[in-house]
Amino acid sequence: MTRGFMFIFAASLLIMHLDCCSASFIGICYGRNADDLPTPDKVAQLVQLQQIKYVRIYDSNIQVLKAFANSGVELMIGISNLDLLPFSQFQSNVDTWLRNSILPYYPATKITYITVGAEVTESPNSVSSLVVPAMNNVLTALKKAGLHKKIKVSSTHSLGVLSRSFPPSAGAFNSSHAHFLKPLLEFLAENQSPFMIDIYPYYAYRDSSNKVSLDYALFESSSEVIDPNTGLLYMNIFDAQIDAVYYALMTLNFTTIKVMVTETGWPSKGSPKETAATPDNAQTYNTNLIRHTINNTGTPAKPDQELDIYIFSLFNENRKPGLESERNWGLFYPNQTSVYNLDFTGRGTADTTTEVNNGTRTNGTITWCIASSTASQIDMQNAIDWACGSSGNVDCTAIQPSQPCFEPDNLISHASYAFNSYYQQNGASDVACSFGGTAVIVDKDPSMFITTLH
Ligand SMILES: *[C@@H]1O[C@H](CO)[C@@H](O)[C@H](O)[C@H]1NC(C)=O
Ligand SMILES: *[C@@H]1O[C@H](CO)[C@@H](O)[C@H](O)[C@H]1NC(C)=O
Ligand SMILES: *[C@@H]1O[C@H](CO)[C@@H](O)[C@H](O)[C@H]1NC(C)=O
Ligand SMILES: *[C@@H]1O[C@H](CO)[C@@H](O)[C@H](O)[C@H]1NC(C)=O
Ligand SMILES: *[C@@H]1O[C@H](CO)[C@@H](O)[C@H](O)[C@H]1NC(C)=O
Ligand SMILES: *[C@@H]1O[C@H](CO)[C@@H](O)[C@H](O)[C@H]1NC(C)=O
Repeated sequence: MTRGFMFIFAASLLIMHLDCCSASFIGICYGRNADDLPTPDKVAQLVQLQQIKYVRIYDSNIQVLKAFANSGVELMIGISNLDLLPFSQFQSNVDTWLRNSILPYYPATKITYITVGAEVTESPNSVSSLVVPAMNNVLTALKKAGLHKKIKVSSTHSLGVLSRSFPPSAGAFNSSHAHFLKPLLEFLAENQSPFMIDIYPYYAYRDSSNKVSLDYALFESSSEVIDPNTGLLYMNIFDAQIDAVYYALMTLNFTTIKVMVTETGWPSKGSPKETAATPDNAQTYNTNLIRHTINNTGTPAKPDQELDIYIFSLFNENRKPGLESERNWGLFYPNQTSVYNLDFTGRGTADTTTEVNNGTRTNGTITWCIASSTASQIDMQNAIDWACGSSGNVDCTAIQPSQPCFEPDNLISHASYAFNSYYQQNGASDVACSFGGTAVIVDKDPSMFITTLH
């Protein structure tokens, strides 16, 4: 077997593994607080190319819902804090919203979660008392439509919902939130919905860099932090914060509620004082986060427990107020080029990466990017459309009918032509050959088996 084939083989095994066996998933937050983002249709294409299967949005924008129709992507949609008042006041408001804004697009657009309010404890107006009544109305509306088993209802929280997060075993909810938290937790337990938390090791480091080391925040630490009460060893702050939430839940006897991370990430740029906001650190954090999640190790207090996460965020958002870092959490610039390389599929965790890296420009070896034999036709066609469209900018004239590279006339040959052209035009970097997992890099001249590579 050639290396190329071995790689395809290994990659397909790994992809199978990701699809069928790994319980934890990785999604992305698609915030739209910007005036320069691509249209939702383009975004849906980009998301599929990156092989991203889970997307969180913050509202129920109709253009966005339409764009993800038949994409296979599962959406978490949101009800904003501003809408909590009407949603909590009258059942009919929620029924109307569901009927007019959601049901017309469902199930072509897959929706699996509705978040009712976001980080309400951070909200200046005290909207927290509206959350549970609004959640109940949403659940009732879903029940009437027969969808309460398919769409889960919850609400997101910042870590500020805890009064204590260190050591993890001392994790406790701030008792001043008890009035709304207790009924909220009862709701979650009763409906098997997750407790949703936004976790930001970046802030923990930025705001107390004398206590938290950068390595510990970036999953790079070689030493452990010991929880003196339990003896558990923590290698990173992410796990410590998640466990603090688990202990807070356990203290109130909510032992069945699972935790879900609805935002986490690292900014690539910040104000002069935010020295840790760099592309390198952002890449390190998110790469390690993806590996950690896919590995399914769980946390020290909850080993092997699945933990789904959403990375914040898809794009840099130029309208966000606050420090410079606020506008630089994106994996992509609005023009859809990536801010730094990040392999969303986590394939970089496998030995295959070393294999591929060694085969490339590092050593002047020539490499090609071709369509993977395991890719589905629809994914491949989407990827060709992207590469040959305004995003990829490849000149695909040669694979048009009667042009020199039209024959052999099949999808895999045309895809390989488009992928390889894009790859060579973009510096033959690994990320230029991702195409949502439909492409692979090979170091044997593939024209032996794909004759359209000229
Ligand atoms: C608990 O929440 C109250 C109200 O938001 C806040 O004033 C207080 O500082 C919080 N306590 C802790 C320990 O975070
Ligand atoms: C949790 O359950 C235990 C045992 O059933 C009980 O003793 C304790 O009071 C409960 N704690 C809370 C906060 O309800
Ligand atoms: C993956 O899991 C193994 C054992 O379950 C553990 O030793 C290893 O550190 C984990 N790797 C990451 C990146 O979490
Ligand atoms: C995309 O935008 C970024 C940031 O503005 C810029 O640095 C980069 O050159 C742009 N890339 C393309 C292909 O336009
Ligand atoms: C890749 O390169 C590294 C360092 O140059 C080397 O140690 C490793 O054996 C190489 N792997 C393969 C598969 O060639
Ligand atoms: C490139 O690879 C060859 C063998 O494959 C090795 O002898 C040579 O030292 C490598 N060059 C660099 C710059 O790594």
